[in-house]
Amino acid sequence: GLGGLQDPFGRRITYLRVSVTDRCDFRCTYCMAEDMAFLPKRDLLTLEELDRLASAFVAKGVRRLRLTGGEPLVRRNLMSLVRSLSRHFATGALDELTLTTNGSQLQRFAAELADCGVRRINVSLDTLDPEKFRAITRRGELEPVLAGLRAAREAGLKIKLNTVALKGFNEAEIPDMIRWAHDGGMDITLIETMPLGEIDEDRTDRYLPLSEMRRALEREMTLVDVPFRTGGPARYVDVAETGGRLGFITPLTHNFCESCNRVRLTCTGTLFMCLGQEDAVDLRAVLRASGEDAPLFDAIDRAIARKPKGHDFVIDRAGRRPALSRHMSVTGG
Ligand code: GTP
Ligand code: 5AD
Ligand code: SF4
Repeated sequence: GLGGLQDPFGRRITYLRVSVTDRCDFRCTYCMAEDMAFLPKRDLLTLEELDRLASAFVAKGVRRLRLTGGEPLVRRNLMSLVRSLSRHFATGALDELTLTTNGSQLQRFAAELADCGVRRINVSLDTLDPEKFRAITRRGELEPVLAGLRAAREAGLKIKLNTVALKGFNEAEIPDMIRWAHDGGMDITLIETMPLGEIDEDRTDRYLPLSEMRRALEREMTLVDVPFRTGGPARYVDVAETGGRLGFITPLTHNFCESCNRVRLTCTGTLFMCLGQEDAVDLRAVLRASGEDAPLFDAIDRAIARKPKGHDFVIDRAGRRPALSRHMSVTGG
């Protein structure tokens, strides 16, 4: 693919996250405020434009695409984009096409995703308690998500659960969630909460360092470090008692930016070079200025040349101040 993309720190950029909508049917408390202002529909790139942009990255050497949101499955007609992007498998240009979803619509779409060549999906799930599920998502229901997980499994999709570890919320339940995930043949990854966007909650109260969580887990489970990697930030262990895989995503306690391989495209065509920095380049204007790919390739090269070294997240001890004003839902993590 035209020589590939490499940033100033020698990191190869082979992975693109594409946020297809900033909207979501949930309002998870660590992700969004209760009253989010969403983009007017007219500001969104069309699915054809998203396809053209994502495909330009594939031509430049990106080998994995992950669709995110908001919630990707609430974007109207998303399957036509998934279907269209799957054409890059046939040419050998793409290794993986996948998505990160809250699972609420998965029952409806699981079979079609599998049919488009999606082999695994990541599903957010922070609790197995219906009441707590309502509390953390503010408006979600657990049962459709569980039905979605069953449908995904029946469709042959591999599942990784994403669980944001929250002090005093799901802390005590995490060992049971690990056993439940592994019983169901799913991987599960614990995530440290990252300080993005004004949310209505105090981050210092909820922040749970995973180094601490791991020590607690080791009192009741045997965790064996394994070299398994997905290309993402998670570090994995095998749990001897369950035979399943458990991941840790630790932006705060163990930075992983030196091995970063990714950039993020939003639904308005803005490319964010790092989840934890403001650096961004508008690709929409370039896209709309011409039908030629060359200017787009140039703009992508210039953007990657500006990728910062990494985030500098800290959990603000003084209170609520986010590291960045942009919410997690703008880039889908
Ligand atoms: P796979 O490893 O391919 O399964 O996916 P992933 O874990 O990279 O992606 P997913 O969408 O499931 O995200 C899980 C969590 O990892 C989310 O909280 C993301 O915000 C976080 N994450 C993903 N990539 C990065 C990154 O580059 N930097 C930071 N700080 N967090 C990231
Ligand atoms: N910190 C860490 N992870 C977050 N996610 C959403 N907001 C945050 C946050 N503030 C996770 C979701 C989802 C993934 C895309 O990002 O749980 O699984
Ligand atoms: Fe929606 Fe995911 Fe954000 Fe929850 S974390 S509000 S499911 S985008």
